[in-house]
Amino acid sequence: LVLILDFGSQFGQLIARRVRELNVFCQVVRHDISAARVKELNPKGIILSGGPASVYEPGAPHCDPAVFDLGIPVLGICYGMQLACHFLGGKVGGAAHTREYGRATLSVTDPDTIFKGYPPESIVWMSHGDQVQNVSGDFVPLAATDACPLAAVKHTSRPIFGLQFHPEVAHTPHGGQILANFLRDVCGCSGQWKMAAFIENTVAEIRRKVGTRRVICGLSGGVDSSVCAALLVKAIGPQVACIYVDNGLMREGETELVKHTFRDWFKADLHAVDARERFLTALAGVTDPQQKRKIIGKVFIDVFKEEAKSIPDAHFLAQGTLYPDVIESGGSPDGPAATIKLHHNVGGLPAELGFELIEPLRDLFKDEVRHLGTELGLPEDVVWRHPFPGPGLAVRCLGEVTEPKLQTIRKADTIFLEELRKAGWYRKTSQAFAVLLPVQSVGVMGDGRTYESTICLRCVQTDDFMTADWSRLPEDLLARAATAIINRVKGINRVVYDISSKPPATIEWE
Ligand code: XMP
Repeated sequence: LVLILDFGSQFGQLIARRVRELNVFCQVVRHDISAARVKELNPKGIILSGGPASVYEPGAPHCDPAVFDLGIPVLGICYGMQLACHFLGGKVGGAAHTREYGRATLSVTDPDTIFKGYPPESIVWMSHGDQVQNVSGDFVPLAATDACPLAAVKHTSRPIFGLQFHPEVAHTPHGGQILANFLRDVCGCSGQWKMAAFIENTVAEIRRKVGTRRVICGLSGGVDSSVCAALLVKAIGPQVACIYVDNGLMREGETELVKHTFRDWFKADLHAVDARERFLTALAGVTDPQQKRKIIGKVFIDVFKEEAKSIPDAHFLAQGTLYPDVIESGGSPDGPAATIKLHHNVGGLPAELGFELIEPLRDLFKDEVRHLGTELGLPEDVVWRHPFPGPGLAVRCLGEVTEPKLQTIRKADTIFLEELRKAGWYRKTSQAFAVLLPVQSVGVMGDGRTYESTICLRCVQTDDFMTADWSRLPEDLLARAATAIINRVKGINRVVYDISSKPPATIEWE
């Protein structure tokens, strides 16, 4: 076990992820964990994350200084380094000329310890206002940048290291090497940990927390809720009831896939509620996108509540919240992370439902969740599914939502995704779908003139869905999809491809 003390950096969980990638088990804990508790947990190493504060600011998060006396190896990153040096006799300063954000060239002066195998000169990512100005004779410099003579240090007598830059971000291309050296050579971690161990720990934790009580798990058909449900079924079997609401706005075959996966394979207690009529009736005549979202959100909560009532003694509600959702909705309650942005998830459930929450995936990133899903035996189709918005096809059906229009979108969408899969592009892209535009245009089919609707294909690449670029799909793939859609989907005589990026466009059309 390696502990990561979180000082409110956006990078805390990213460090955890890098550590897990090196097959070392780690846990992110509050920065003010007591040294006594750390001793009890007996980690092989401690990493102090970065953070937005300045060490001397009133109320700046500090750790228990006795942590440094336990003899456990410590790696302080950015703010974590400043704190370690502050407690062990260094001076931290914030003079304007020491501010450094972005790329810097690092020269390594001591290639032994944590810089073993590291290039003598390389790019690192800096992001700090303060830096360590001088260190007592107890620290020696290991590496420097132009603006930061103490970019990396080690203590002369204790296994304590500090990095002013961020080794965990992709902009520090060799950062993983430093973490690997620290974990292997300084902490003595063997690097044997696997996702299977995460499952084992989490299953034990869920069983401990739930006891003999019952859990309701909302299942949307997406990756996160499917993995969450699979994990719960593994942990507590029939004590979990999964609720899936068919709102009539799903893609082709989606409801069947959920039923087949969870009922037939996992033998889960699946409550699949057919609420298609109810949603479509509520949406009749509505054309405004935000209004559609509101209606869908409200009907969803009503339907969910009604179904939940039919499950006696339910105490917990399980949700597949991932770490990026936690940070997007204002930071983890366990740490002082600064709010980054508000989440606009529709299809979420309000706290007033009165259940205690279980969120077994809240420390994981998307690709780790996929890995976990595979390990749990979920089908590939589920594990690699592109994200799908809560309001479903309603926001891809411009104007009023009607069943015939939904049918048209479903058919076109299926053809497009099939072509993507066949050409090996589905996994290379982040999200792909068809939109039915409220536009009719003139065409010619056989000898006749047509006046029919337009399908727009949208396919994007993105890391975080906050910004996105349109996918440069091969022309012949687009040509095949367009021809198949026009030939096979009644009422469509024109297919266009959306080449806008986000911003200024959004990924969805509504
Ligand atoms: P936009 O269109 O805002 O989409 O660029 C970004 C990502 O969010 C999804 N999306 C939604 N997801 N409820 C959701 O749960 C919504 O109302 C909603 N609107 C957009 C969208 O599919 C994309 O992945």
